[in-house]
Amino acid sequence: MTAPDITRTLLPTPFHRLDRLSEYLGVDVYCKRDDLTGFGFGGNKTRKLDYLLSEAQRRGATDLVATGAVQSNFCRMAAAYASASGLDCHLVLGGKEPSTYTGNLLLDALFGAELHFVESERWDDWERKAAEIENELLNRGRRPYRMPIGGSTPTGALGYVAAFEELLNDARIANVEISEIIHASSSGGTQAGLVVGQVQRGWNGKVTGISVAWPAGVMHGVVKKLARETAVVAGIQIDEPPVLVDDRWIGDGYAVPTVAGGEARSLFARLEGIILDDVYTAKAAAAMIGRCQAGDLERKGVVVFLHTGGSPGVFAGRSE
Ligand SMILES: Cc1ncc(COP(=O)(O)O)c(C=O)c1O
Repeated sequence: MTAPDITRTLLPTPFHRLDRLSEYLGVDVYCKRDDLTGFGFGGNKTRKLDYLLSEAQRRGATDLVATGAVQSNFCRMAAAYASASGLDCHLVLGGKEPSTYTGNLLLDALFGAELHFVESERWDDWERKAAEIENELLNRGRRPYRMPIGGSTPTGALGYVAAFEELLNDARIANVEISEIIHASSSGGTQAGLVVGQVQRGWNGKVTGISVAWPAGVMHGVVKKLARETAVVAGIQIDEPPVLVDDRWIGDGYAVPTVAGGEARSLFARLEGIILDDVYTAKAAAAMIGRCQAGDLERKGVVVFLHTGGSPGVFAGRSE
C-alpha cells in the first residue's frame, strides 16, 4: 500500500497509558490519540481525507462535495481540506439550519464552504441532494469530487489500514501487547480499515466497533462489505472479515446523549484531562468502561481506546 500524496495528518498520533483511568477500572487502558491528528481540529477523518484528497487531486477535481449531519465532523474536515487545496467546497448538511452557528457548523462557515441544509433525518435524502449538486457542477463544466457520508469509501478506509500498522508499532515501542481495540463506528470506514490491517498482519486480537447509530446487524453488514472492498484496493483478498460490533450503547438514537456516555465523559475529563464528544467518543468510552466494570474483557494484554476526535461538537451547545 502506498502512502497518500497529501499528508496533512500529523503522524504518528500519541499512544499512551491512561494511568488514572486504569487505576480506577483495574484494567490496563491505553489511548490512541486520533483526536490529535492536528489539521482543522483533527479527528479520525483526517487519515481518510489524506487518501481521498490525493485521489481528488489525481482526478483534477475543482470542487469537493461532502455530506453529513449539521454537526458533522467529516464535513468540517472536508471544508478544511478544500481550503488548503484551493478547491471549492459544497456541504450537504442534514437537519434544520440553526439560527446560531456553533461547533463544527461555525468552522464550516469559517473555512468558506457553501452550505446546503436538507431538513430530513434520512441519509438517502442527503445523498440525493449531494448527487443533484454534483450534477449541477458537472453541467457547469466543473470537476466535482463527491464523497459519501463519513468519507467511507475503500480509498478513505485505507487511512485506517495504515493506522492499524501504526498502532502495532506504538505497541512495540511501548512494550505492550494489545488484546482489544475499541472505537466508535457509524459509517464504517474506520473499522473497515482497521479490520483489513488486522487481517493483513495476521493479528489475533479484537477490533470492536461501538455502533453509535445502527443496530449491530446493519453495522456489521456495512463494515463487512467495505472491508472486502478496501482489501481489494490494499491488494489482499478477505473472504470473511472479522467484524465485531457492539450496539448496546446507542441509547435513544444517533446524537442523543446517554447517561453512560455522560459518565464516561466526566471520567475522561476528570481523571485524564481528555475531552470526549457525546455523539461518538463518549458512547464508545461508555462501552469500554462498562465492559471493564462487568469484567467482560480479556486480560491477556492491554485495552486500547481509539479516540476518534469530535472535539468541536463539545461547543455545539448541548448541556451536560
Ligand atoms: C468523532 C467521530 N468518531 C467516530 C466516527 C465514526 O467513524 P466512521 O464513520 O468511520 O465509522 C465519526 C464519524 O463521523 C466521528 O466523527
